[in-house]
Amino acid sequence: LRNSFAPRAEKRNQRFENRLQPQASSFKVAVLGAAGGIGQPLALLIKMSPLVSALHLYDIANVKGVAADLSHCNTPSQVLDFTGASELANSLKGVDAVVIPAGVPRKPGMTRDDLFNINASIVKNLIEAVADNCPDAFIHIISNPVNSTVPIAAEVLKQKGVYDPKKLFGVTTLDVVRANTFVAQKKNLKLIDVDVPVVGGHAGITILPLLSKTKPSVSFTDEEVEQLTVRIQNAGTEVVEAKAGAGSATLSMAYAAARFVESSLRALDGDADVYECSYVQSELTELPFFASRVKLGKNGVEAIISSDLQGLTEYETKALEALKPELKASIEKGIAFAHKQP
Ligand code: NAD
Ligand code: LMR
Repeated sequence: LRNSFAPRAEKRNQRFENRLQPQASSFKVAVLGAAGGIGQPLALLIKMSPLVSALHLYDIANVKGVAADLSHCNTPSQVLDFTGASELANSLKGVDAVVIPAGVPRKPGMTRDDLFNINASIVKNLIEAVADNCPDAFIHIISNPVNSTVPIAAEVLKQKGVYDPKKLFGVTTLDVVRANTFVAQKKNLKLIDVDVPVVGGHAGITILPLLSKTKPSVSFTDEEVEQLTVRIQNAGTEVVEAKAGAGSATLSMAYAAARFVESSLRALDGDADVYECSYVQSELTELPFFASRVKLGKNGVEAIISSDLQGLTEYETKALEALKPELKASIEKGIAFAHKQP
């Protein structure tokens, strides 16, 4: 019986591996914080991308083993490891995209802003190195509090004279992934079909799922809107509490970040139909940074999709106004931090 299955299994494997063969173009990606809870599964998922030729893994410790392990996967990209500040510059030279999940995660009872004191400095130092070594790369920031770490990164890049707002992204894809999952479950829809834009920022009430813009078009009762919105806003805390002190979302985050990085690489590769929600410099509202759907192209953000904020429901309009003071304060805190540092 086993023998009769063997040829089929072989064929399946071949097909799987065919998908992983190099395409015409290939990109170099650096993951900073690659030995962490997000970094490891994210590196694995990026290692599976047919668009990647080199994967640079950087961390302050434990990255050698992660790289040795990953390098045995028979997918096209070459894996290189870089440990500690003295190897940071080399990890960034020549890369097309940088992903930053470096920093401490929450424990139960903490807000994302409670991570500011540690993570702000980590992000600042890493972005200085990005500015010096790969100023043209797409930069994807995962480290929390994203609402502040992205403005910090922007200020650091400005100070270095290399800020390109089109290439700096706060990764809010996990909010979209969660919204899609929860809406599909509640409405008994096929997961693959569901797409919910999530705007604002990435903390508590600043996370605003626009359920009225769900595709395919779905109707929700007021109660469903309230319940789904609150669950999406608190989903990070749901995981933090379930992990009970052992950290925050890592696997779903790695999945979400891998999706965003793949979208960036497809855009860099010339795909003209790439859209993702992301926290970027924006003129969509009076706030200087705001998450919304963006169209990605070879040069980064090609367009910010303003139509999502038109025709909002009363619930969404109120929630949008309510999130602005908190998001504004987080942005200002990040900018002030970047300016007061030597
Ligand atoms: P973790 O502690 O498991 O891993 C963090 C890694 O960063 C560690 O390997 C650590 O050595 C490394 N690190 C620390 N300082 C560094 C530095 N200066 N340079 C390079 N690497 C450094 O944490 P995690 O669970 O992977 O979470 C990482 C961050 O991602 C946290 O801030 C967390 O809040 C955030 N996060 C964001 C989202 C999001 O949606 N944007 C989702 C989940 C987690
Ligand atoms: C998340 O949304 O899961 C992350 O921002 C991590 C956290 O602290 O909740």
